[in-house]
Amino acid sequence: MTTTPVIKAVGLVKIYQTGGLPVPAVRGVDLVVEPGEFVAIMGPSGSGKSTFVHMLGGLETRTSGEIWLDGKRADTLSESGWAVLRRQKVGFVFQFFNLVANMTVADNVELPALLGGATPRHARERREYLLAELGLEERAGAAPGQLSGGEQQRVALARALANHPRLLLADEPTGNLDSRNTRDVLKLLGKVHRQGQTIVLVTHDARVASMADRVVSLLDGQIVDDAPIARLQRRPAGTAGDIVELHG
Ligand SMILES: Nc1ncnc2c1ncn2[C@@H]1O[C@H](COP(=O)(O)OP(=O)(O)OP(=O)(O)O)[C@@H](O)[C@H]1O
Ligand SMILES: [Mg+2]
Repeated sequence: MTTTPVIKAVGLVKIYQTGGLPVPAVRGVDLVVEPGEFVAIMGPSGSGKSTFVHMLGGLETRTSGEIWLDGKRADTLSESGWAVLRRQKVGFVFQFFNLVANMTVADNVELPALLGGATPRHARERREYLLAELGLEERAGAAPGQLSGGEQQRVALARALANHPRLLLADEPTGNLDSRNTRDVLKLLGKVHRQGQTIVLVTHDARVASMADRVVSLLDGQIVDDAPIARLQRRPAGTAGDIVELHG
């Protein structure tokens, strides 16, 4: 049986042209992510991780190559075409949170669901669920500027998930969090993943990566490793429980 990948990148290249000198940030990346997959992108600082996921979400233009989102060619769309597709299909957690400053936390989280056509009641229920999962229900009426960096980051994750997006793209969603809040975020990511959420996530954190199905390693703008994590748990036919193995 063949399925349509949620995201497919073919020969993706990004060369920044600033101040004369071209900076090749992403140099020919191919990636296919199937529905329900959880892919962690790892690699040293400057290896092109953010540039890559920004291109996947249409937030950064590509220099060359193709991007297919849910079976639809996306890289040739106009900026407004991309914006519409992104609103329908992609939830994004940025390295910096991009919350709307003059709206409450609750409204920030509900907005994408409302824009996506949810009824006000469904948007509210989804928001209440997500904020509670992230330990933020008390902060629903606050403005983003009244929250800590870690709280803002969790609000950004709730916002990204509000719309049940086809694809969740996240750039270091636990980068500013202490261990307790990291645990809440990981619990929620694990939960939505088990519910079928497709996730592509940049992280430096091995604990975060260990939750993924696959770890893709970038170095100097190229994939140097793409390794499935085999989880041998609760399978019949003589497999042991809770063993996590990294192949590659
Ligand atoms: N707007 C820009 N203009 C010029 N060069 C850029 C720009 N954004 C990123 N770069 C360069 O592209 C390369 C890749 O950057 P990118 O932000 O994708 O790395 P990263 O892997 O996300 O790093 P980090 O782990 O530090 O977030 C780096 O050499 C960076 O300096
Ligand atoms: Mg980055």
